[in-house]
Amino acid sequence: MSGKTLLIGQVLSFDNDPFQGAPARAARLDGALVIAGGRIVDRGSAADLRARHPQARVVDHGDRLIMAGFVDAHVHYPQTAIIASWGKRLIDWLNTYTFPEEMAFADPAYAAEIAARYLDLTTANGTTTVCSYGTIHPASVDAFFTEAQRRGQRVAAGKTCMDRNAPEGLRDTAQSAYDDSRALLEKWHGLDRLSYVITPRFSPTSTPEQLGALGALWAEHPDCLMQTHLSEQTDEIAWVKSLYPSARDYLDTYEAHGLLGPNGLYGHAIHLEPRERDRLREVGAALIHCPTSNTFIGSGLFDMAGLMAEGQRIGLATDTGGGSSFSMLRTMAAAYEIGQLRGTPLHPAQLMWLATVGSARAMRMEDRIGNAAPGMEADLVVLDLASTPAIAQRAARAGDIWEAVFPTIMMGDDRAVAQVWIGGRAVA
Ligand code: GUN
Ligand code: ZN
Repeated sequence: MSGKTLLIGQVLSFDNDPFQGAPARAARLDGALVIAGGRIVDRGSAADLRARHPQARVVDHGDRLIMAGFVDAHVHYPQTAIIASWGKRLIDWLNTYTFPEEMAFADPAYAAEIAARYLDLTTANGTTTVCSYGTIHPASVDAFFTEAQRRGQRVAAGKTCMDRNAPEGLRDTAQSAYDDSRALLEKWHGLDRLSYVITPRFSPTSTPEQLGALGALWAEHPDCLMQTHLSEQTDEIAWVKSLYPSARDYLDTYEAHGLLGPNGLYGHAIHLEPRERDRLREVGAALIHCPTSNTFIGSGLFDMAGLMAEGQRIGLATDTGGGSSFSMLRTMAAAYEIGQLRGTPLHPAQLMWLATVGSARAMRMEDRIGNAAPGMEADLVVLDLASTPAIAQRAARAGDIWEAVFPTIMMGDDRAVAQVWIGGRAVA
């Protein structure tokens, strides 16, 4: 055995950014790729690769689409069991559904059960990397990393920090948030495929002292990611203004406490002031678009076209369980629909890029994941572009690859996911 596997299909990868220039020409299609030692080692026509790697085990996917596994840049794995909870906007939704559920993660056994359930669900949907919030309980992060490590998965996660405006039992302090986050960071960051993310939930649930303590931790570990929420709903922004009267705007509550930087991921970022947009772009921070969440919780319409045109770094995410799906296909469909409502439809190449390269770039991992190219880690999804009768009959009329892919983006679900590879192993 050479330890090599040759995958045959339609291999989709990106040579360029489809937001710069003609979207359809940013991608390339090859007939096959070879994986070995957990990485993609070659790419080309099936005939060439068979000739170059005669000992490789061959897995023939016919005309299925082989591409990088999806990268979901903003999720709350602890909200798995409360996804699709009815009838509330952000603050009420947090108080009614989210905080009571997150309280249950005081039990490490429950955290372990949900971590496994969450990773089963996301894998079934073709997602191979996520950037997740935990709860305030350090054991929620231990549970998530333990399960991801067992599966050989590249994930990022952190302990959610909140020291006010959250119920008894779901609050830490500035000092314990710093101490617990640091201990988790030292325990997990860089171990196998795991990365620690410093995680203040959002300005309303942290005192200025807590934001400052986490800003100090980030300054001590600037290679770590930092994730939080920014300008999701107008009520929330008004609340932030009342809690931080001297702040110039919402972003300033982070900036003033050392929580604005190039390794920062800012979830939602819908209702931004011009100064906020300028600062986010200047520092090279990442904005994370969570379209099913934004429609489900009623937050607003993210300005993808405008933000991309001004050079922002943008990732795509489900925001489980504020988002209403575990599927990045459904998430791409929602991003398309929001683009339509703004008069700026996204091309299928742009949607696929956002769900892979874009999110990997947001997580500063584009040199390892997010593209089916030689040298990258072998995290792949194999998509059946005719997974249901409705999709199949539309795809049958496709004139090119993008017309063939778009019905699966708009109507596909976990039935479209024929196979998933994580670190070079077929797992689903
Ligand atoms: N803002 C603060 N916490 C949350 C959360 O858990 N979900 C969403 N969608 N927004 C938030
Ligand atoms: Zn969120």
